[in-house]
Amino acid sequence: MSATFSATRPTPAAEIAPSRIATKRTILMCRPDFYTVSYRINPWMHPEVPTDTGLAVRQWETLYRTYVDLGFDIRLVDPIDGLPDMVYAANGGFVLDGIAYGASFTYPERQPEAPAYMDWFRDNGFDVRIPENVNEGEGDFLLVGDVILAGTGFRSASKSHEEMTRIYGREVVTLNLINPSFYHLDTAVAVLDPSPAPGERANIAYLPSAFDETSLEILRERFPDAILVTDEDAAFLGLNSFSDGYNIVIASRATDFERQLRARGYNPIGVDLSELLLGGGGAKCCTLELRR
Ligand code: ARG
Repeated sequence: MSATFSATRPTPAAEIAPSRIATKRTILMCRPDFYTVSYRINPWMHPEVPTDTGLAVRQWETLYRTYVDLGFDIRLVDPIDGLPDMVYAANGGFVLDGIAYGASFTYPERQPEAPAYMDWFRDNGFDVRIPENVNEGEGDFLLVGDVILAGTGFRSASKSHEEMTRIYGREVVTLNLINPSFYHLDTAVAVLDPSPAPGERANIAYLPSAFDETSLEILRERFPDAILVTDEDAAFLGLNSFSDGYNIVIASRATDFERQLRARGYNPIGVDLSELLLGGGGAKCCTLELRR
């Protein structure tokens, strides 16, 4: 056994990369049957450019099947005519310890989604907390180990971070987003290890240019081994990815991110969601994690 690691032979990166462990996730998704871009609430959206709902559905189904193949437990919420952004289920709330903290959307166009998601949570046995502050769910809240990273600047109000602290009794770390193209935290941070083994540190990937200096200091200090994603990969929302601890579903065009993930012993799986990118979302936006 030790012979293969003799001092004279350089050890390939794959051999020193820690072995990654996949854990089955339970998620909520929403078929994009009524998807289109009919208003503009982020810089990616251009209502004057036509969208192809059929193509959006087919791309979404590829994502769905990818999750099925990974053995995930996938739940579905019914899409509603007139709510084209409902496909971005990550914004429907934040679910942890069986408690569903409801969303309260920034823009009127999306506000009717909030009760639809809260009804689903209630009907499915979650303890629903009606939000007092504007927040866009897992779009801005990411569980990393025992800590909740919380974004603000464009959508979720910083007051919602205090509300989260009270509800979950976890440490909530505020991060300030400064680039309107990366308006949700899940467009600028990817959680790589959703269920770290006891004593193991959960790692993330992030886009440095999306944060102010104060937040960057926090990220550097807390995640010294983080993967730094390039602006080129971020241009396809490459960071908007979903990990089970080993397999990471990413935008297929995010090639440098893919390379970096492989070098760390993860298994990146590229999915093309170009049609949903027209609304300003990627794989993670279509995925809401349900944690009991
Ligand atoms: N059009 C949607 C919006 O601007 C996209 C949401 C993307 N979701 C996400 N979790 N980043 O609200």
